[in-house]
Amino acid sequence: MPSRQAEYQALREKHVPRGPFQATSAFIREARGAVMTDLDGRELIDFAGGIGVVNVGHSHPRVVAAIQDQAARYIHTCFHIAMYEPYIDLARRMNELTPGDFHKMTMFANSGAEGVENAVKIARYATGRPAVIALDNAFHGRTLLGMTLTSKVKPYKLGFGPFAPEVYRMPNAYCYRCPLGKTYPSCQTACADHLEEFFVGNVAPEQTAAVIAEPIQGEGGFITPPPEYFKKLQAICRKHGIVLIIDEVQTAMGRAGKLFAIEHWGIAPDLLVTAKSLAGGLPLSAVTGRAELMNAPHVGGLGGTFAGNPIACRAALAVLDVFEEEGLLARAQALGRKVRARFDALQERYEIIGEVRGLGPMLALELVKDRGTKVPATEETKKLVQACFEKGLVLIACGNFGNVIRTLMPLVITDDQLEKGLGILEAGLRQISAR
Ligand SMILES: Cc1ncc(COP(=O)(O)O)c(C=O)c1O
Repeated sequence: MPSRQAEYQALREKHVPRGPFQATSAFIREARGAVMTDLDGRELIDFAGGIGVVNVGHSHPRVVAAIQDQAARYIHTCFHIAMYEPYIDLARRMNELTPGDFHKMTMFANSGAEGVENAVKIARYATGRPAVIALDNAFHGRTLLGMTLTSKVKPYKLGFGPFAPEVYRMPNAYCYRCPLGKTYPSCQTACADHLEEFFVGNVAPEQTAAVIAEPIQGEGGFITPPPEYFKKLQAICRKHGIVLIIDEVQTAMGRAGKLFAIEHWGIAPDLLVTAKSLAGGLPLSAVTGRAELMNAPHVGGLGGTFAGNPIACRAALAVLDVFEEEGLLARAQALGRKVRARFDALQERYEIIGEVRGLGPMLALELVKDRGTKVPATEETKKLVQACFEKGLVLIACGNFGNVIRTLMPLVITDDQLEKGLGILEAGLRQISAR
């Protein structure tokens, strides 16, 4: 009998364009917690979590119950036509939970990119300025502005221009490959101070609406700035009346061991964007921020037909309940400690691991051909991902050179599943190191 997997692969090739990429060849029949089962019944341990979307695990029973209950009540009214409680309840909880002891407001959209677009609209409107500064290695989505703010050219930007105007790009805090050629900590975080110099040769501060940054750069390679970085960046933004937008689409909801990763740096952003794991797998993004900024755009200036869909809001409320009632943050931190210890040990055994980095369970291995020259081991990373998939582990890479392995497993992964997954990863490292 032909495999269901093979049958659907053939149908996919005939009916769906090649643009939407596949990290693996799996088609999923069902998924629970940190395990997915494909159409032929093969079980896969999930270290990708649908690109960081299922931090509470696949089909968490509380999320499923909230979705079912809401679907039976009403599915859509459009917030602009007839309002509903879940939108308000979730906005209130986001305002309470996000960092910052000031009056905050929240609005919802559908995807991370749409959240970013709205944050930029709000910052531009509130400041009356056009420019936005993004960082090297940034990823902010695939819409026209999201793609413009994104750094990596292939595959995200190639052939899709012209891009949106008034976007400027400055060096990031990539200590392993410092764009300023310095070394931490003797550099004194010069990459943050560099913003003042950047204004001289690139764009005037009085023309700049916002600086946008991810706390840990996700697609860019899990690049984790040093502890002083965001305080410095924020001080410069404040001095010039520039809005600091923190894009937590990938880092929020416990991914880095805190509900919001920016808490690690002890600052409260002016605007904070969340999406991915916010609604446990349903499409939902939020922009949360200072009330005076959020409330600046005129009535009707923000929104969208599906934005803040009631089922997605109910799912997000269930996700927040899971964090509170199931101690998921403590679990995330314990998971982070386990994976970190294992990754540090792997780095001692395998020369190909140039750096281990990240916070909480948002961890990465940057693979290099040689620890001295740091030439990216791009081909080897591809082989590792494939070798792991063949043995039943779904793993994804990131980084501008595609040479970084990242962990985005559901935070509810069991010890057995984690051990099995890490064992497969180590076997894969042994395999690519032997070649
Ligand atoms: C930091 C960051 N911002 C924005 C996005 C875009 O989110 P979406 O794919 O939901 O549009 C992503 C997606 O990976 C992301 O990691």
